[in-house]
Amino acid sequence: MVESAVVSNGLDGIVVAETRISEVDGLRGKLIICGHDSEELAFNSTFEQTCSLLWTTGGTQPTSQSDLEQKFGEGRIEAYELLKKNPFVLQQSHPMDALRTATSLMSSATQIDWAEYARITAAQAVFAANWSRVHRGLELSCPDASLTHSADFLRLLKDKPVSKTDSDALDVYWTTISDHAMNASTFTARVVASTESDNISAVVAAIGALKGPLHGGAPGPVLEMLNEIGSPENAESWIRNAIDSGKRIMGMGHRIYKVRDPRAAIFEKAIRNLEASGVPASRLALARSVEAQAKKILAQKHPDHPLKANVEFYTAVLLDTIQIPDHLFSSMFAAGRAGGWLAHVAEQRLHGRLIRPASRYTGAMPH
Ligand code: ACO
Repeated sequence: MVESAVVSNGLDGIVVAETRISEVDGLRGKLIICGHDSEELAFNSTFEQTCSLLWTTGGTQPTSQSDLEQKFGEGRIEAYELLKKNPFVLQQSHPMDALRTATSLMSSATQIDWAEYARITAAQAVFAANWSRVHRGLELSCPDASLTHSADFLRLLKDKPVSKTDSDALDVYWTTISDHAMNASTFTARVVASTESDNISAVVAAIGALKGPLHGGAPGPVLEMLNEIGSPENAESWIRNAIDSGKRIMGMGHRIYKVRDPRAAIFEKAIRNLEASGVPASRLALARSVEAQAKKILAQKHPDHPLKANVEFYTAVLLDTIQIPDHLFSSMFAAGRAGGWLAHVAEQRLHGRLIRPASRYTGAMPH
């Protein structure tokens, strides 16, 4: 390494790629996905449509919506067949471990191909839903390829007819979290693709990165926190105690956003839509007061480091409102973010080169 080079611990501020896929404006609190404002996209696009947009922007050939939906359906069935042949993967106690193992059993190649990306992405939801079933003492359930991806996921999970209100809310969730610039798991996927390794290896590595509580593992603990706090009047003392004992408040703070994460507002709007359709959102009022207390106390503690609600805070409330069990929150994130990972894998293959940063050696030298 060149002696004078600056060490950027955590790669803060380092630009490693040019991308057409998404842009995060951390000062103004804006997220653009493939040229669209994220809120406008979230309320006007199914997850399959969002994937089509991501993948063509990344570099795949365009396809018709019906062909893509068919490939998603086939991908769900293929994933179910894989689980039937390899039931041991669902015995793993951590849902992200099971997701990682099941995904690694899929056949893979290196091609830039929307059909390959659809089968890999579709499988994530089937692995997640069936892991949850097995851990609730239920049998595996076979997907219905004629349904939309979100409706089929909810049907697999809940064993009952799914309302359009719920599946729309899930489309909002998956579209909103489908991509977010050079986050840790996307960077991981791009590093693997940059070595010309296969698509499954890139996704498996990204699942591993997403599992961590500083990235995609936060929404489960957010719900636990809300449950422990119980009611708004307990929020201030609970938050103060947690911070005084050195804990991080899950769902607060972000490396890029200096203002409130715009995805929190999208999820609040989706929760309000659910409420307007008669779906009770029992934790919304509590979440708002906990967020307000956390924001106030964190601003006192870290006046120079803005720590506001991030996407995970209201992910917990939105997914809870549509009755997704909290053990699935991180896998749900992976099931949506796989769309973005694969778009970046395509872009990396087409325009990138081997990612190989330097380090500064601080160890002993030979005598
Ligand atoms: N609660 C309490 N203190 C915090 C929090 C938090 N949520 N976040 C940061 N801090 C404090 C740190 O302890 C540190 O304090 P110090 O300077 O006294 O040591 C300071 O703020 C800076 O922390 P960093 O980790 O350097 O800040 P960074 O911007 O890298 O952190 C991160 C971003 C990892 C998201 C952090 O805010 C965090 O841990 N949040 C909680 C976990 C979470 O919500 N993760 C989901 C992120 S969104 C996503 O990935 C999809």
